[in-house]
Amino acid sequence: MKKTIAVLPGDGIGSEVTDAAVKVLQSIAMRYGHTFHLKHASIGGSAVDAHGTPLPDETIAACEASDAILLGAVGGPKWDKNPAHQRPEKGLLNIRKHFDLFANIRPVKAVPALLGSSPLKEEVAKEVDMVIVRELTSGLYFGEPKRRTEKAAVDTLVYTRQEIERIVDQAFEIARGRRGKVTSVDKANVLETSKLWREVVEERKAFYPDVEVEHMLVDSAAMKLITDPRAFDVMVTENMFGDILSDEASVITGSLGMLPSASVRSDGYGLYEPVHGSAPDIAGQNKANPSAAILSAAMMLRHSFGMHTEAATIEEAVMSVLEDGYCTGDLSGAGKRVVSTERFVEKVIEEL
Ligand code: NAI
Ligand code: MG
Repeated sequence: MKKTIAVLPGDGIGSEVTDAAVKVLQSIAMRYGHTFHLKHASIGGSAVDAHGTPLPDETIAACEASDAILLGAVGGPKWDKNPAHQRPEKGLLNIRKHFDLFANIRPVKAVPALLGSSPLKEEVAKEVDMVIVRELTSGLYFGEPKRRTEKAAVDTLVYTRQEIERIVDQAFEIARGRRGKVTSVDKANVLETSKLWREVVEERKAFYPDVEVEHMLVDSAAMKLITDPRAFDVMVTENMFGDILSDEASVITGSLGMLPSASVRSDGYGLYEPVHGSAPDIAGQNKANPSAAILSAAMMLRHSFGMHTEAATIEEAVMSVLEDGYCTGDLSGAGKRVVSTERFVEKVIEEL
């Protein structure tokens, strides 16, 4: 297959980890006879420096001419005092909005070699294998009116039926390719938007008779993520609940450097990026853990290109390098061999 990928390294360790992911993609392309054409473009603080805006038109054009987007991370102390329209994270918000990437997908899966660093008991953490599907382009973060006066402030929580339908359908589709269970998380005992959400889930489930559905209140879900995370397969929820629960779930596996994510729309187009940020404290030192970026690239192959075998091959290679005891500094511990970002990638490529 021939595919074009927009590569947006961004700031800090963003370029180190996207370089790593690109090397792995090139190696996979050779092995399986694919051609990946890469279009590099800027986003975030480095785009502000070069073009005066965190999401230049050239970057949008490069993404429009591509089949998927691979992103590093944006931000850093250098730009923290910039005015709102020149803040690095504005680049990310705008690109998601521009491409209507309404579904944020975050797998949370135990990494056998790293169970020691999970805050949960090993026997609980080791069976965790879930996906959180978060609505990303609506809800409280976008609803109007949104303003404040001296004495009060208002945010608005709005969801349309169509916005709920499309995110719920994504979750059902993902559950089909997994253990076939969807947990829909809401606050239907208090919120009107949640009552509508629940209704829509009940309607859509008729189209997915092979998928089991349960509803859970967000406060219960927050507890259950800690007490019994093994019980979840696919969790689907609105924007703010998903923001909080996905960060809560991310600590289960033990390292930020391991977690990939995707932001997609219904036609399969998507943006793939590690969950972590630009890590200014270790940027430019060849220390960053490239696993999250590499696993994000694997998600891209599976979700946007339908290359399931290739994706699994990458995931197995990363796990196997960790099993052999190699890791980057963030995962150091007894019996581990700490290597540089570049060396870690070489090990992954040898493993492929
Ligand atoms: P962060 O994720 O960049 O770093 C948190 C801690 O984890 C740091 O100690 C860092 O060294 C470590 N870490 C993160 N990723 C790592 C990796 N791959 N390998 C090894 N260690 C890793 O979050 P922080 O420090 O809160 O934010 C730093 C900058 O990143 C800020 O400007 C923030 O706005 C931005 N950020 C950007 C995100 C994005 O682009 N999606 C997401 C989160 C933060
Ligand atoms: Mg968050």
